[in-house]
Amino acid sequence: MAEFVYVNGEFIPKEQATISLFDHGYLYGDGLFEGVRVYDGKVFELLPHVERLLSGARALGFPLGDLDETKAFEAIVATCRKNDHRDGYIRVNLTRGTGLGLDPKHIEPKVNFVIATRQLALYPPELYEKGLDMITCSTRVPSPDAIDARIKCTGKYINNILAKMEANRVGAGEGIMLNQQGHVAEATGDNVFILNSDGVFVTPHPSAGCLKGITRGVAIKLLREQFGCVVVEENMTLLDIYSAKECFLTGTAAEIIPAVSLDERLIGDGKPGPNTAKLIEAFRAYTKSTGTPISS
Ligand SMILES: Cc1ncc(COP(=O)(O)O)c(C=O)c1O
Repeated sequence: MAEFVYVNGEFIPKEQATISLFDHGYLYGDGLFEGVRVYDGKVFELLPHVERLLSGARALGFPLGDLDETKAFEAIVATCRKNDHRDGYIRVNLTRGTGLGLDPKHIEPKVNFVIATRQLALYPPELYEKGLDMITCSTRVPSPDAIDARIKCTGKYINNILAKMEANRVGAGEGIMLNQQGHVAEATGDNVFILNSDGVFVTPHPSAGCLKGITRGVAIKLLREQFGCVVVEENMTLLDIYSAKECFLTGTAAEIIPAVSLDERLIGDGKPGPNTAKLIEAFRAYTKSTGTPISS
């Protein structure tokens, strides 16, 4: 079956889909993106993804014209329907528009909006049983007075890519990124949670420099509502992870995955913890019980 990419309101066969060389996202990283999952014909947590995208666009002053949450939501569902994309990944890109030169006054005041469907498996299934080894990266997250981490903008990802290269260099599954104060912000492409020795789940607040992840939100909700756990958003340092009972990462691509060591220190007993395993099971059940159907 032919695969189509949605480009500014039209479905174009994947091989012919193009974007200008003068797209501001391409030239300057002046864009936003979302990675979204489809499970069994239903788009997972689509509204929060669309809201994060559009709120980022408004914060960056993109010329949205008549593009709003409803139109973006419908375009994403329509793209899945067109490609009969029932399981996998959706990449949504929104850039400021087309034109050379930094000054937004000199570019065509019309965003570029692209939606593509892909298959994706970030980690092999056995890593969900064994858990990830992590390192602390020397690359830090940008300070919030440079760019607010809640804005999922393409430009800032150069930091995450450099941090990921550090992790790759030593064969680690993920890298922890700190902020300028030395507090844990997030992993290179995921949010981080620990279960501490008081039995409290802790994850950094977005003001520490992490993305307000959609999967993070689902994990908090399941922990609180399904398991009655205490979850707090507060600063943590490396010591909190080294001395945690359990640790796991959350992200659309990785879903929920245990982390079992950091900088060669074992977390807990160095095996995925029982609470993390229960949460993974609950998350998988939740992905099946919710979502926006792609069929009309
Ligand atoms: C830097 C970073 N942190 C966290 C996440 C997890 O966010 P979400 O659960 O919304 O996918 C991502 C996902 O792309 C990310 O890039």
